[in-house]
Amino acid sequence: MKRLYLDNAATSHPKPEAVYLAVDDALRGGGSAGRGSHQQGIAADREVFATRELLARLFGVASSERFIFCANATQALNLAIFGLLNNGDRVVTTSMEHNAVSRPLRALQDQGVEIVKVPADPYTGVVATADIQSACLAAPTRLLVINHVSNVFGSLQPLDGLGRWCRQQGIVLLVDGSQSAGQLPINLDELAIDLFAAPGHKGLLGPQGTGFLYVHEGIALRPLIYGGTGANSHSSRQPEILPERFESGTFNIPGLTGLGAALNFLLETGVEQIHQRETQLVQQLISGLSQIHGVQLYGPPAGQIRGSAVSFAIRDIDPATVGFLLDQRGIAVRTGLHCSPDSHRSCGTFPAGTIRVSPGFFTTAAQIDYFIEQVDSLKSIL
Ligand code: ALA
Repeated sequence: MKRLYLDNAATSHPKPEAVYLAVDDALRGGGSAGRGSHQQGIAADREVFATRELLARLFGVASSERFIFCANATQALNLAIFGLLNNGDRVVTTSMEHNAVSRPLRALQDQGVEIVKVPADPYTGVVATADIQSACLAAPTRLLVINHVSNVFGSLQPLDGLGRWCRQQGIVLLVDGSQSAGQLPINLDELAIDLFAAPGHKGLLGPQGTGFLYVHEGIALRPLIYGGTGANSHSSRQPEILPERFESGTFNIPGLTGLGAALNFLLETGVEQIHQRETQLVQQLISGLSQIHGVQLYGPPAGQIRGSAVSFAIRDIDPATVGFLLDQRGIAVRTGLHCSPDSHRSCGTFPAGTIRVSPGFFTTAAQIDYFIEQVDSLKSIL
């Protein structure tokens, strides 16, 4: 049975063909970036540099050394949060965060960092900018952490103007771009974002085990990992310069080479094109599911600009049961809390969670039709 993959919010699949080829080439090529003046080491070095340059192009930033490679968005968010905050700091965040943000913040709360969560609208999952600003102004605030697009409901948080406002107030802005990078056009300079974390394997269409943290000039972080960087080996201290300061240890060369191939694909295709295509699929999905008796859709209404994750439930049936039945029919979706219990508490779907469908750039309209037919046909057995 040919499987239908609709779990692109977890990791995108399939990847562009060039990604598979690039990973294979890199693994066969050998060599470790920054760890040898022989030809294989230099070739690996070039691949890492090229991928960094492509990230800078995609996100509208002049200096590629501000992009720190990490193993995933969770590590990037941990570096930003633990690298920046000190006891006594105050952080404003939202009720729509993933555990990759809320758990590090909870750990710091236990050590004396004050955390303020701004609630989202329970129907759309969107947090009002005015609410964020008044929470930030209630007391001196060091950091605002905001999820750009919800991994559960696809809700898009408005960032326009927020970055400039934060800079005027002296508040550092950290954006979790896990569900927006590669899926929405993002210019980090124009949005005045100080810290931006994203995985390489979701909307950026690269391999798992890749991700990055963008660090704007003037933002000082403590490294979380210390060790060899391939240069200045005589010094007993961690280098001050970026990206080396935060990139100790051997690079994931196959992953980063594959990510480079994926970024070339994105730049050639155009992120705006990708967004339009995914938007059409999401609208088709929402329109089809909304016509099935017993289906309850959550999140932003049809027509609103949003991400590609769509959450629903069928009456009061456990989402895990629906997910199991769909899987038996060859369809992959994710069910439950999606590592974001706060989002479910915000939108009234805690503790059961939802069935989450997330099409990707390579999903077809015919596949969405088939999915809707299959959900409709479950009615007779549920
Ligand atoms: N955060 C990813 C998801 O939503 C893994 O599935």
